[in-house]
Amino acid sequence: MANAAVSAEAKSGGISRREFLYYIWGASIALYAAQFSGLLIWFLLPRFREGEFGGLFVISVDELPEVNAEPANVPAGRFWLVNLDTRQESELMKKAPDESEEIIGVAAIYKVCTHLGCIYAWTAANNRFECPCHGSKYRLDGRRIESPAPRALDRFRMQFLDADKNPITGAESELVNDFYAPVPLPENAAFISVDTGDRKMGLSQPLLCSFANECP
Ligand code: FES
Repeated sequence: MANAAVSAEAKSGGISRREFLYYIWGASIALYAAQFSGLLIWFLLPRFREGEFGGLFVISVDELPEVNAEPANVPAGRFWLVNLDTRQESELMKKAPDESEEIIGVAAIYKVCTHLGCIYAWTAANNRFECPCHGSKYRLDGRRIESPAPRALDRFRMQFLDADKNPITGAESELVNDFYAPVPLPENAAFISVDTGDRKMGLSQPLLCSFANECP
């Protein structure tokens, strides 16, 4: 009788009913695993849209500050834009004795203090960035004036774009000592693109106050 039942259950087109159910069950598990993996990858991958911190910010060059003027604040991108030229006399931006090269160009400076992560601000009365938490001070280009900050302010990678928003060859951040150097402003630049997902840590240069014997 049992044999008859097995026979009845069995073989239709080469596989038994039990085998067929196993296949269905296995396929369901595989499909579920694939869906779960896909969702996990989608969730973990960074998805930054233009204009969101972590992504690109495209800004008109009209919004750049004048050379050696106070920095332009870009709150959504959490950075300052500075326009530097040490060939021009300025209270805000002067070369230090250990700087042999002129400092020329635009830089995008991260708004977080390199000491313990407070948000510092530009203090117009003193012509420098000052951190309210423990008193670190920075020059217009982000170099440390006073500690306890361990290094200069971090910078984001930048690229100048033409009027059609195409990248201008050679007008992008270059690494010098693994730090983004300022980028000279090309004549045909219409926009600047700042990548807030690409940041380099500031350099640990000597404090500027030490050159003037004014460190606290
Ligand atoms: S967090 Fe800025 S000085 Fe400490």
